[in-house]
Amino acid sequence: MPPTNRTGIFSEENRSKREELIGMLQRSYWMEMETVMSYMANSINPDGVRAREIVESLEQDVQEELGHARRFGERIKELYGVVEGSMEFTPEQKYLQPPEHQTDIVHVIKGVIEAEKGAIEHYSRIIEFCDGLDWVTQDMVIAIQHDEEGHLRLFEGFIREFEAEGLV
Ligand SMILES: [Fe+2]
Ligand SMILES: [Fe+2]
Repeated sequence: MPPTNRTGIFSEENRSKREELIGMLQRSYWMEMETVMSYMANSINPDGVRAREIVESLEQDVQEELGHARRFGERIKELYGVVEGSMEFTPEQKYLQPPEHQTDIVHVIKGVIEAEKGAIEHYSRIIEFCDGLDWVTQDMVIAIQHDEEGHLRLFEGFIREFEAEGLV
């Protein structure tokens, strides 16, 4: 709980909004952590020449998504919340499980696109929720959203190439 003389998002009158926001940030934290797990596995498993570029890109993203998770966690703490332990984690990314064949890189690309779209959707809600309430969280989530839009665009480019070659 913040000291009683705080204003804005930290004020007593915004207590329930602050708690709601912490919940949204906690969900974001778990989404990032699951993305780290999924991108890690999918940067190791794939076979084949075509997979090389995608694997390298996912390797880089693992670091970036880990950085996002940390920023969400740190903001939770600044808002006087506590970052949850692993027992609270519930997986959601069914679409990013390893494909049946490890040469099926299209499956991986589609999964990444779905994960990035899901993150963008959730972060958009937070950005709106923060409007006029918490500019600092809003600013942070906008920056993270920007990264996700970059990831999404990159993987859309990959899928376009595969479509052009008739592989999708
Ligand atoms: Fe992320
Ligand atoms: Fe991302």
